[in-house]
Amino acid sequence: MDITTFLRDNNFLSPLLVISTSIFLLFIVKQTKLLSSKSIKNLPPGPPPLPIIGNLHLMGDNPHVSTANIAKKYGPLISLRLGKQLLVVASSPEAAMGILKTQDRHLSSRTVPAAFQQEALLPHSLIWSECNQTWKNLRTLCRSEMFSTKALEAQSTIREEKVGQMLDFLRRKQGQVIELEDVVFTTLLNTLSSIIFGKDMLQFSDGNGSRDWLKESLHKVIEYGSRIKDLGSFYPVLERFDLHGTTKGTMKVFDKVFAYWEVIIKERSALINSPTWSSDQAQTFLDRMLENGFSSNQIYQLVMELFVAGTNTTTRTVVWNVSEFLRHKEVMSKIEEEMKMEKNSDEIAPSQQSKLPYLQACIKETFRLHPSVPLLLPHLAADTCEVMNYTIPKNTKIFVNVWAMGRDPKLWEDPLSYKPERFTDSKLDFKGQDFELLPFGSGRRICPGLPSGIKSVEFILASLIREFDLALPNGADPSKLDMEEQFGIAMKRKNPLKLIFKQKQPY
Ligand code: HEM
Repeated sequence: MDITTFLRDNNFLSPLLVISTSIFLLFIVKQTKLLSSKSIKNLPPGPPPLPIIGNLHLMGDNPHVSTANIAKKYGPLISLRLGKQLLVVASSPEAAMGILKTQDRHLSSRTVPAAFQQEALLPHSLIWSECNQTWKNLRTLCRSEMFSTKALEAQSTIREEKVGQMLDFLRRKQGQVIELEDVVFTTLLNTLSSIIFGKDMLQFSDGNGSRDWLKESLHKVIEYGSRIKDLGSFYPVLERFDLHGTTKGTMKVFDKVFAYWEVIIKERSALINSPTWSSDQAQTFLDRMLENGFSSNQIYQLVMELFVAGTNTTTRTVVWNVSEFLRHKEVMSKIEEEMKMEKNSDEIAPSQQSKLPYLQACIKETFRLHPSVPLLLPHLAADTCEVMNYTIPKNTKIFVNVWAMGRDPKLWEDPLSYKPERFTDSKLDFKGQDFELLPFGSGRRICPGLPSGIKSVEFILASLIREFDLALPNGADPSKLDMEEQFGIAMKRKNPLKLIFKQKQPY
């Protein structure tokens, strides 16, 4: 891509940015000096950077694909210059292990996307904090109250009820065209909001009417969070100007959502602070946060992070799975066969899922080809250290390209083919020990929601396949379903998956 096209495609020539250009030029000399790769010895290899923009023009809309292509030329650990930011990308299990295991202690800080640079909230963040005491406390609280075996068991009634509501909705809408992502998102958000607040927050919709404001707001947050071309993140000196309006836009949405949550929090807080309250009355995660003395800002931040991190990743994992099942009739038949054999009762209870090893192999195969967070969340080097004998300087941004590893012919036979059988007799798992398959990451930043996310994915998939025959609108051939991706906080299908549901004859 030439520079003019790059600037135009990225809206860097818009009138708003003319003002910034003059400020920007003042820093050119400084930036150019900083851009010189030679100023730091022994960096991982990478394409030569251009003055000022470095390698920004090579990133494109799908950085997981562009960095995978660059890695093919320069090797499994590459370095790139994005404006002033130095970026290192790992694309092999050895490089991933170097980052997420050997140097985990030094390389587990975070860079914060513009959308989440909210002054009042950031100090309370789990996702965007460095590995400090706040982060440790929040992870411990979430682990014990949300994701422990005991907590997951306690949540199973809610999970079953919400999936039951989804199935009821789809039964009522048989024969109509339904957007799968919307239905699954609603189910997962209501599951989480019931666990956290003790109530549903979204209505099911068939995608034809107006969507409710909360769903729109959460989608907006995700959209802002997924903006990868924010000038401020490449040139920190421009950060404070919020040139793309990303920080302000997110704050506006947050204000609206938090005003709604505030009413619920105040109500519950009054009860918890009343003299008649005793701890065994606590029912929800909100009760636990209030008992732990959380302020409103602490609650807003944690709940928003759990909503954003927990719903999209899981929803999109379900959608990618269903897309692959539709494309591979024989896989769908095998899952159905497995469920018929295991059937003892009318409903698939969450406890029964471990009896579906073929479905689990399918989910692993989908994670391999379509990890919903293809570059993990951005890590940051808290100190200078070495990986694969290369220097990773302090403040380097780090991506682990799990998408590239899933498609590497050196690691997988016939990597672009969807073959769940490769996992049926294999011990390989996605829990952070096998570095060729890391959809949840590994090390201290590994996804704390893994047990909950995987339970939901299995339960929703099993319930959908058991209950419905799935068809594409207008009799389209499912084996030809396109699999184009759109990069974001969680990677989604470029073209939404629209389906017609038809109830199956009971087995
Ligand atoms: C299939 C579902 C899911 C996938 C694929 C997934 C994937 C990931 C990945 C790749 C990371 C980043 C790891 C890193 O930076 O190295 C992450 C972080 C995180 N996830 Fe998940 N996730 C899923 C479900 C969930 C759920 C259900 C929740 C909570 C309700 C959740 C909450 C979080 C949080 C809070 C973090 C940040 C952890 C930290 O920075 O210490 N995730 N997830």
